[in-house]
Amino acid sequence: MSNLVVIGTQWGDEGKGKVVDLLAEQADIIVRFQGGHNAGHTLVINDKVFKLSLLPSGIIREDKITVIGNGVVLDPWKLLEEIELVRVQGITINPTRLMIAENTPLILPYHKALDQSREQSTDKKIGTTGRGIGPAYEDKVGRRAIKVGDLRDDELLKHRLAIAAEYHDFDQQQLFNQLAHIKEHVLQYVGPVAEWLNAQTDAGANIVFEGAQGSMLDVDFGTYPYVTSSNTLAGMASIGSGVPHNKIPNVIGITKAYTTRVGEGPMTTELFDSIGEHIASVGKEKGTVTGRARRCGWFDAVQVRKTCMINGVTGIALTKIDVLDELKSIKICTDMHEGIPIYEEVPGWCSSTVGITQLKDMPQEAIYYINRIQELTKTKVVMISTGPERDQTIILPASLF
Ligand code: IMP
Repeated sequence: MSNLVVIGTQWGDEGKGKVVDLLAEQADIIVRFQGGHNAGHTLVINDKVFKLSLLPSGIIREDKITVIGNGVVLDPWKLLEEIELVRVQGITINPTRLMIAENTPLILPYHKALDQSREQSTDKKIGTTGRGIGPAYEDKVGRRAIKVGDLRDDELLKHRLAIAAEYHDFDQQQLFNQLAHIKEHVLQYVGPVAEWLNAQTDAGANIVFEGAQGSMLDVDFGTYPYVTSSNTLAGMASIGSGVPHNKIPNVIGITKAYTTRVGEGPMTTELFDSIGEHIASVGKEKGTVTGRARRCGWFDAVQVRKTCMINGVTGIALTKIDVLDELKSIKICTDMHEGIPIYEEVPGWCSSTVGITQLKDMPQEAIYYINRIQELTKTKVVMISTGPERDQTIILPASLF
């Protein structure tokens, strides 16, 4: 396997965690490169459920090394909490298994407070996760962020806090003390990630870059302003880790067999009827991070065709096809006319696809649906997920692995 990046082609929650976990089996290193603990990745392994929001999904495999790259915004308290949670579930985490880039900006309590107060005090809500992601990225480009490496030097940290205090209202000494209390726990993982990753890949190690959120939440290409505050596209894997783009040849686009979205903002194919409710309940469409109900709709081929193009997707991993099992007919948005979606209706298969591992065992109607997705998005489907467990997967022969 060569280096690859895994991204979501829709609004996030496409099921990246499971696919990254599967791909991680053949990789040596798994890297998070953007977002923060706004992400929610659910992994089901031998009936054990792991809910991760900051640590790379590869952390569950103890023979892998995981990395948090500089493109992430890092809440150090949340980091330590999540490490502890995963440890309690029996996984070893130490500095040989987890590395954090020293130039990663921190999410501090004033970011969270600002994010939440903005959401409460406006009638133009974005519906953020309230975790301080946006304000932390603002500080990064505003050149007033505290980077995790700054925790190494007390004088530098005080200086950086003083700069932040020109903009935010907080008690500098109190925050310095709070950081002093945890800094050794965090700093043990901190190192020169870009140099290390480049040396590793040059020596033949395989890296999986794990995206968070989805392409339609990208700050440049998403449904602005109803987006997250980072670039979620595959190109960010390079900027957010320091591994140049020409060392990352493959892009897997995780794509749900229908569409979901959490939070506010436009959603062309949204369903407001009993079919939408059916998809939400069969697909258990509730946010991992905030527990909010996800809005559900038909597959939007116009959108996925575009996101495959801008990400350079080399193969689609199609997820949650089994959620459509009971529908008599299924619609696909194939075009847009003056803002109105144009649908093609295809027959449903009305039988269970849960746990199928061979394409030949899929109902003909499901194969037709998958083929239409390939044609309409102009992208090959290389993997189909038929349930949350690792082995509930069809790997197609034309795949890249
Ligand atoms: P923020 O990332 O918390 O600033 O939220 C901005 C928008 O991105 C909101 O609509 C969130 O619901 C959405 N969002 C953030 N993270 C995720 C995710 O992991 N999955 C789906 N939506 C997300």
